[in-house]
Amino acid sequence: MNIILLGPPGAGKGTQAQHLIAARGLVQLSTGDMLREAIRSASPVGLRAKALMEAGALVPDEVVNELIAARLDAAPAGAGGGFIFDGYPRTEAQAVSLDALLAERGMKLDHVVELLVDEEALVDRITGRFSCAMCGEGYHDRYKLPKVAGRCDVCASAEFKRRPDDNEATVRTRMAEYRAKTAPILPYYEARGLVRRVDGMAPIAEVQRALDALLGEAG
Ligand code: AP5
Repeated sequence: MNIILLGPPGAGKGTQAQHLIAARGLVQLSTGDMLREAIRSASPVGLRAKALMEAGALVPDEVVNELIAARLDAAPAGAGGGFIFDGYPRTEAQAVSLDALLAERGMKLDHVVELLVDEEALVDRITGRFSCAMCGEGYHDRYKLPKVAGRCDVCASAEFKRRPDDNEATVRTRMAEYRAKTAPILPYYEARGLVRRVDGMAPIAEVQRALDALLGEAG
């Protein structure tokens, strides 16, 4: 099963991807995570992406298309039963490229899940977000705190970090980019009957249940 998770910044794409990995063994392909890794390693892609990401602007299509192609090729055959495309595609050119990349590899898309959200609430979600510096587990100042204060639930690390683009001004630019360039690709998938919608404003566990119901029983 290959799924695109679509929604503005903070809609819960990464959070729900973690659930789909745990529940169904799918493999997450997050272009945001790939680009952050490229920045950390100071690769040519990272050097090109850094300023754009910090400003909340999209990275050029050819850069992310190549990242996705490389990850599809690196994944073991039949990887985990399918892929979750998280934060990709974000433009019509990326959507067309993904179709070609999948077709070349004998794969197809099964669902495009749009997380429906209220943009104002997302500013609060994003500015409160932090993650474990060791294992990457995601948290929120109010909605998802570690069970033991100051210790990661997964690896017990006491080190946490925040993303440099998680400030209000950059979030608003990212949302404007989503409205202008990403939301317009929905009709491309609607025409093929692939789009499913989930209320992304419900609590995290309810969104998970709605996704499970929509995708059918695991396995
Ligand atoms: P990317 O990393 O993809 O960021 P984004 O799309 O802005 O999405 P986020 O990761 O901010 O949000 P999310 O929907 O995953 O929410 P999360 O689950 O974390 O992209 C970053 C940048 O990289 C872009 O701006 C661009 O520059 C570049 N880029 C990436 N891909 C690109 C591409 N394809 N083309 C061009 N450029 C690209 O949740 C947020 C918070 O809310 C968390 O704290 C979570 O705990 C909490 N939360 C989640 N769900 C709920 C809920 N239901 N109720 C309450 N709290 C919740």
